[in-house]
Amino acid sequence: MGKVNIDINGKTILVTGSPGFIGANLVLRLLKEMTSGTVISLDNMNNYYDVRLKEYRLSLIEDAAKTSKAQHIFIKGSIADKALITEIFEKYKPEIVVNLAAQAGVRYSIENPDVYIESNIIGFYNILEACRNYTVEHLVYASSSSVYGGNKKVPFSVEDKVDNPVSLYAATKKSNELIAHCYSKLYNIPTTGLRFFTVYGPCGRPDMFYFSATNKLSAGEKIKIFNYGNCKRDFTYIDDIVEGVFRVIKGAPEKKNGDDGLPLPPYAVYNIGGGTPENLLDYIDTLQKELVLAGILPEDYDFEAHRELVGMQPGDVPVTYADSSALEKDYGFRPTIDIKKGLHNFAVWYKEYYTK
Ligand SMILES: NC(=O)c1ccc[n+]([C@@H]2O[C@H](COP(=O)([O-])OP(=O)(O)OC[C@H]3O[C@@H](n4cnc5c(N)ncnc54)[C@H](O)[C@@H]3O)[C@@H](O)[C@H]2O)c1
Repeated sequence: MGKVNIDINGKTILVTGSPGFIGANLVLRLLKEMTSGTVISLDNMNNYYDVRLKEYRLSLIEDAAKTSKAQHIFIKGSIADKALITEIFEKYKPEIVVNLAAQAGVRYSIENPDVYIESNIIGFYNILEACRNYTVEHLVYASSSSVYGGNKKVPFSVEDKVDNPVSLYAATKKSNELIAHCYSKLYNIPTTGLRFFTVYGPCGRPDMFYFSATNKLSAGEKIKIFNYGNCKRDFTYIDDIVEGVFRVIKGAPEKKNGDDGLPLPPYAVYNIGGGTPENLLDYIDTLQKELVLAGILPEDYDFEAHRELVGMQPGDVPVTYADSSALEKDYGFRPTIDIKKGLHNFAVWYKEYYTK
């Protein structure tokens, strides 16, 4: 599909889910690159994980805004609040929208389904409705590798059939892609969905394995290794994700009419993943080494005594493996940062943040 180049300078860009992990890092990049314009962060600052991490990321954004040529506005509120979303679009008229706000996490969705419907379905619908009622040049939104469910064929390609989600979280993300397709077709709104593959890095999400394992090991607790370690994950370092999203924002699917005179949907979906799935046990070994090197754990730490091999968890999948060739073809980019470098940066950050 052809792309329309978008100049982000001078534009108003709404990033929902900032100062969440990915959102905050994206906003920092936008503030660095833009020579004029406005970036709006919208987040309800919920306490799914330690809110202090979100406040810390927001403080980094506010510091960056002081020297940025672009302006930054933070709004605390929910995308599920339709009146608020309408008010924001009416007041600021964003030309670019990046929807990262969502209730994340596969396991949490098993016990807490309501919030997934509220944020990921109703919230996303409110964003689409606002994009329909105001002129938006490009809506970019977060999907997830979890849409592939127990897909046996690897690597996972956007051409694969993804009709068998194994968690409500995955089902909401797949639904986002379907509803976005419908809005692209009916209202000619350029939309791009991005299926992220296990994003990690400094000041990431404490509910994710590398972070919670670090917390547990430093507290002298045992970590649980699911499926007896027989898991492969395609990990993607945060800087690679930001680079991918940044490029995608600037290339919107082209609007075109079909033979029937009606719009062809200006719609696209891409994988963004490292493309080199790591065996979970190797990933843990690398993490352990980096935790020792950073001085978080002592050199003689008994790792064997602090691990427990357990069975598979409901909602989880044994393997994720991204085929990011479509992203590379259309945007000239694929993730390259390896886990050694990525986990090193995480460990250095963790030591500094928690020592302070
Ligand atoms: N991190 C990953 O590995 C990963 C993988 C696949 C997909 N994703 C998706 O990427 C996006 C960003 O993920 P993240 O890792 O930065 O997670 P995150 O939880 O750090 O960020 C999401 C942010 O959205 C906010 N939020 C939640 N519900 C909201 C609502 N109703 N209104 C306004 N704000 C709301 C939260 O407070 C949070 O700050 C999410 O859509 C997530 O599902 C992430």
